Amino acid sequence: MPEKNIISFTRGVPAPETFPAEKLAVCAQEVLSQESGQILQYGQAAGYKPLREIIAAQSGVALERVMLGQGSLQLFDHVVRMLVKPGDAVLVELPTYDRILTLLRRAGANVIGIDLEEDGISFIHLEKILHSGIHPVLFYLIPDFQNPTGSVMAAVKRRRLMELADQYGFLVVEDAPYRALRYSGSDLPSLFEINPHNVLQLSSFSKLISPGLRVGYAVLPQEIASRVIQFAEDTYINPSYFNQAMAHRFIQKGWLQSHLLELKQLYAKRLDSLMIALDAAMTGKGTWTHPSGGFFVGFFTKQSVDSDHLMKAAEKVGLRLSDGRGFFVQGGQNFIRLPFCALTPAEIESGVRRLAELF
Ligand SMILES: Cc1ncc(COP(=O)(O)O)c(C=O)c1O
Repeated sequence: MPEKNIISFTRGVPAPETFPAEKLAVCAQEVLSQESGQILQYGQAAGYKPLREIIAAQSGVALERVMLGQGSLQLFDHVVRMLVKPGDAVLVELPTYDRILTLLRRAGANVIGIDLEEDGISFIHLEKILHSGIHPVLFYLIPDFQNPTGSVMAAVKRRRLMELADQYGFLVVEDAPYRALRYSGSDLPSLFEINPHNVLQLSSFSKLISPGLRVGYAVLPQEIASRVIQFAEDTYINPSYFNQAMAHRFIQKGWLQSHLLELKQLYAKRLDSLMIALDAAMTGKGTWTHPSGGFFVGFFTKQSVDSDHLMKAAEKVGLRLSDGRGFFVQGGQNFIRLPFCALTPAEIESGVRRLAELF
């Protein structure tokens, strides 16, 4: 099948036609002509101060707690390298973002998955693990429009989780790159808003402006902030100020708000198309999540499938799928992640029809 006819449900990337290239060119031009002495020089490891100031004000924390990095994944890696020793227990949702599993395994963590329900983690499972004598160092979660399922954690579960974190003394890492991309309904309190002292919140401009900019951030608990920033300095001196200054300029000009509205309008239509296509072609073949935002729908097949066989069969009908097992600590043979933002409604419809042929 020629490459251009292949429909790819693999990577969760933004639609390239949304990249605000001309506006970013204006930002680049302005920051280079007005701030070159600062942005082309070495800087502090925590990142470009004006952007940190915006995030600190939004989050209601002291500037010292805000750190920028080359994407949020890298910041999580710093935290893991600092806090997690080989053998330490780390909790994640099951399934979770595949790169986080790779990063935790690389650090030698004992990664324990907590079953995910449509409205967030199972507390029966979590409490069983906590009562079993396991002392997790941290719990990594994506409460809003989770990767890979699109699920949203219910408010009551968010509060209960923070109570358990206090009681059992583990750090909660809330990854929130999709939180601003809600297409319907209203926001729930973030874990950080519930307990700003015991939550390390990660987020990023990758899904809101462009991943190629590589601008992510962490709001760190006070006790570890200076150590994480020192760790970053010892690793790369400082992240790119040029990119951060561009993102800052984009926000200062008021362009982020209007850009977000455009993204939400476009992506909401694509999510609708996926829901309609799944209803039409996949009813009876499995179950799927019904997210109200983000990038992903999670599809669970009725029976376990051989993932290698499924991916090969998919290629034959011009469909590219990720290996569902990559999102699980163990298992995952019955899972397919369906990212929808970078596909047109016609591609989504055709992709789902091809998927249906496989079952
Ligand atoms: C949950 C989650 N966290 C982090 C990232 C990576 O973000 P960044 O580009 O800021 O490193 C992704 C990218 O897909 C993601 O889905």
